[in-house]
Amino acid sequence: MKNNGNPYIPHAATVEEAWNETYGDRCIRTFKVVFDDEEIRESWEHRPGQCAIIGILGVGESMISISSSPTEGKFLRFSVMRMGKVTKALHQLEPGDKMMVRGPYGNSFPVEEWKGKNILTIGGGIGQAPLRPIVEYVKANKDDYGDLTTIYGSRTSDDLCFRNEFENMMEDDSVSCHLSVDVEEQDWPHFVGFVPTLLMEVNPSPENRIAITCGPPIMIKFVLENLKKLGFEDEQIYTTLENRMKCGIGKCGRCNAGNLYVCKDGPVFNYATLKQVPEAFA
Ligand SMILES: Cc1cc2nc3c(=O)[nH]c(=O)nc-3n(C[C@H](O)[C@H](O)[C@H](O)COP(=O)(O)OP(=O)(O)OC[C@H]3O[C@@H](n4cnc5c(N)ncnc54)[C@H](O)[C@@H]3O)c2cc1C
Ligand code: FES
Repeated sequence: MKNNGNPYIPHAATVEEAWNETYGDRCIRTFKVVFDDEEIRESWEHRPGQCAIIGILGVGESMISISSSPTEGKFLRFSVMRMGKVTKALHQLEPGDKMMVRGPYGNSFPVEEWKGKNILTIGGGIGQAPLRPIVEYVKANKDDYGDLTTIYGSRTSDDLCFRNEFENMMEDDSVSCHLSVDVEEQDWPHFVGFVPTLLMEVNPSPENRIAITCGPPIMIKFVLENLKKLGFEDEQIYTTLENRMKCGIGKCGRCNAGNLYVCKDGPVFNYATLKQVPEAFA
């Protein structure tokens, strides 16, 4: 990359598209952004599962998963939940506005290692943001992988991220796609109940399959239990952690879970590794 990949250097990017995925106080807004500098745009490389630090000059920065797959084109997508100072400011951005982007940070899903495997993603709420790139990556390289199953749920249909994309995937015979909301709603045609229960309904075989889960800690806890009931081995299960970060490059000690630095060793972890670190689920 132009700056030798120096992760401290932010690059200006322009918001090409922006839309609200969900509603309410903690709504999620997705941004499609393009680097202003052509050389950065062309040389930027990220892998599914990686993050970037995005921000607004004079306001601050936040670590956010890159929710687009590199297979989609020379742009990045970020899906941001409105939480505090920085994310509230980001939510004001409209097409044509600028943000600063630096990275990419962290490890990634081992997509090369997974070639030939069936892929299962299990997401909840904003946890679908780091899973979306793996879904898009596998769809774009479907000859390299077995079948693709994707399970996603949120509290209500208003809290579902990427809803149109999921509904399109339901029309696509090459993806087995399952949506849920926690409680009954008028005109909701899909599953009603928690994501771990939907996982048991879908009942995916563990044979030659990788399961990747991301979502609220309580969902992950029960998804992990149910994956074990379905016969998945620890080594077949991956998740991502979102511990609070500062430097993003293993210097400040802000993001530790036991002996793991989430920024440097993660955010993607195999469950066999995480099980050795009780603090990871604290
Ligand atoms: C690896 C990684 C990937 C992430 N990916 C995304 C993403 O794709 N989309 C997204 O919306 N957010 C993501 N986050 C979380 C995001 O970084 C924070 O929500 C954001 O920095 C909050 O900044 P703020 O200034 O708006 O809020 P602040 O004022 O800093 O915080 C507002 C509230 O959010 C809580 N909070 C802040 N950060 C975290 C965190 N990491 N975990 C739990 N609670 C937190 C604070 O305790 C406080 O209650 C990710 C975090 C990490 C570490
Ligand atoms: S964020 Fe500084 S060490 Fe991980």
